[in-house]
Amino acid sequence: MQKDSSVTVETEDANAAGVATSREILRAKSLRKVFYSGSQEIVPLGGIDLSVERGEMIAIVGPSGTGKSTLLHLLGALDTPTSGAVYFAGNSLRTLREAELAEYRNKSVGFVWQRHHLLPDFTAAENVAMPLLAGGKAAGPALSAAGDWLAEVGLGDRATQRAAELSGGEQQRVAIARALVNNPVILLADEPTGDLDERSAENIFELMQGLHRSHHLTSILATHNLQLARRTDRVLTLEHGTLTPGVEALAGAAAGGSRAAGAGAISPGERGVTRV
Ligand SMILES: Nc1ncnc2c1ncn2[C@@H]1O[C@H](COP(=O)(O)OP(=O)(O)O)[C@@H](O)[C@H]1O
Ligand SMILES: [Mg+2]
Repeated sequence: MQKDSSVTVETEDANAAGVATSREILRAKSLRKVFYSGSQEIVPLGGIDLSVERGEMIAIVGPSGTGKSTLLHLLGALDTPTSGAVYFAGNSLRTLREAELAEYRNKSVGFVWQRHHLLPDFTAAENVAMPLLAGGKAAGPALSAAGDWLAEVGLGDRATQRAAELSGGEQQRVAIARALVNNPVILLADEPTGDLDERSAENIFELMQGLHRSHHLTSILATHNLQLARRTDRVLTLEHGTLTPGVEALAGAAAGGSRAAGAGAISPGERGVTRV
């Protein structure tokens, strides 16, 4: 094949800046986060690199306190790195203005937390509609869209029920609908099944996996549950400030995923945070 030197050749590989391949939606580059606790430095992220392609579902596992939430916060622009950068669709979040960052947080990314953070005295539909109302949408269309999303998460008949009256699993369904009501491209979920019993956890995971596929999401979830983690496209272990492919790096992880209920859970113990 002859190559015309005047033509720019599109490449799948990272460009010179190390960002923006054609399928890449999110990238963490040399991401470092340092917290200070008195005179002690805590370094949950010691300069990690991560490339996420559109449509991937990734699980981040690791013992409690290793920095999973910190990583999700940085990816979602809820916090800023000490050094390094997060790139969304090839653009460093550092270069975005405050209004653009707010738009990224509200429109491009949806968040699901371990605890649902619903407003208990508001109805399911009002909770789901909140991000739309905050974005200036009128109440009628916002509640209508919320109703559609509640139907998608299997709660079409509970729109007018107060959030406080719903079960834990149902509340998490409402939280998922709220996270997706703005049609984000990225779903960040921090221990989304952490507060649920085994059966509800399974149902919520299946719901998330179904929505991930049907809405062409890119999903990153932090979880303690190795059995669920292994059902994603890719599992990464965060420990000692570094991100490693697979779960082999986890002490005792080999026993996970087998037999008894909860066998795949990582017990919170040794915090495993790099302290320098
Ligand atoms: N705002 C903060 N200030 C000081 N230390 C923090 C802060 N947020 C998190 N940390 C510390 O950073 C480490 C990683 O926390 P986190 O990301 O919540 O871990 P994980 O989600 O894996 O349990 C922990 O040692 C935690 O105490
Ligand atoms: Mg956490």
